[in-house]
Amino acid sequence: MRVLSGIQPSGKLHIGNYFGAIAQMLKLQEENELFAFIANYHALSGGADLAQLKNNTFEVAVDFLSLGIDPQKTCFWVQSHVKEVLELYWILSRYTPVGLLERAHSYKDKTAKGISPSHALFSYPVLMAADILLFDAQKVPVGKDQIQHLEMTRDIAIKFNNEHGEIFTIPEAYVEESVATVPGIDGAKMSKSYGNTIEIFMEEKALQKRCNKIVTDSTPMGEALDHENCNVFAICSLFLDEEQKCELAQRYRSGKEGYGHFKKYLKSLIWEHFEEARQKRAQYMENPDTVYEILEEGAAKARKIASAKMEIVREAVGII
Ligand code: ADP
Ligand code: TRP
Repeated sequence: MRVLSGIQPSGKLHIGNYFGAIAQMLKLQEENELFAFIANYHALSGGADLAQLKNNTFEVAVDFLSLGIDPQKTCFWVQSHVKEVLELYWILSRYTPVGLLERAHSYKDKTAKGISPSHALFSYPVLMAADILLFDAQKVPVGKDQIQHLEMTRDIAIKFNNEHGEIFTIPEAYVEESVATVPGIDGAKMSKSYGNTIEIFMEEKALQKRCNKIVTDSTPMGEALDHENCNVFAICSLFLDEEQKCELAQRYRSGKEGYGHFKKYLKSLIWEHFEEARQKRAQYMENPDTVYEILEEGAAKARKIASAKMEIVREAVGII
């Protein structure tokens, strides 16, 4: 099965990105043909700080490799190294009704939050469709917020195929329900744009500080705590199996510990979970050329597939 996903280099990766997207990719790369890329063109569509874009692109690449994307198994590249995607984006625009884009939640949400309503922001789902259709991806692991974009991709592909024959594979979104929305420190969806994230590679002290900021209720020490509505519990759960979750719930009910204890526990869970990745990350940061080589190899492989696909697409639409 061909699986593809991209992530924007719009800031430091957080545990919402990890559980919502990256962890799925790591699982999927074991038994599938995985295509993973850094969506740096997408970063031009919103509020990303362009002065940081180059550096963020590199750091996200390092983070992915450190977290376990294996270039031996997975084709891993930077979106802008395979220019065919921009050509397909334009061609697909012909098959994209404006009404379809106008219904996009993410466009409405982002403009409501003050991001300027540029053409890039509006047509972003078409670029995402190009990313996916160029590689004939069958399965696309994403967080819940991206499901509508996948539906749009399918609509565009079906419209194209109806006119030209079975040229594009119709992809499906793959969402892991248990981690569909990771809450941030304020209980809303964890997101860079809400300033409520816990970054994967924070320094240890900063990480504890961040965990301490998680909003909890004001149940006094000595009383049983409500784990079901607790953000600390929800985030801890991501790292625990069923039995460990039951044990933690029991500790909440016992009334013997306060939120401070559970925030320390959460910090230790995060810190230990990413221990190995942190070490790999330090090595990659010291050897940037290794990272560039991996990305160049990935881009070469991706380009080969993309250019063959574009020949078929151009032929179908009569572009010489
Ligand atoms: P952000 O909202 O922080 O800007 P992105 O939009 O760049 O994150 O998302 C990158 C990937 O991580 C997407 O697949 C998205 O669905 C997933 N993701 C982001 N935040 C969360 C979250 N809080 N819970 C689950 N998945 C998430
Ligand atoms: N739009 C996705 C996001 O913001 C990133 C992305 C770009 C993507 N192209 C993609 C995800 C193709 C999956 C497939 O998270």
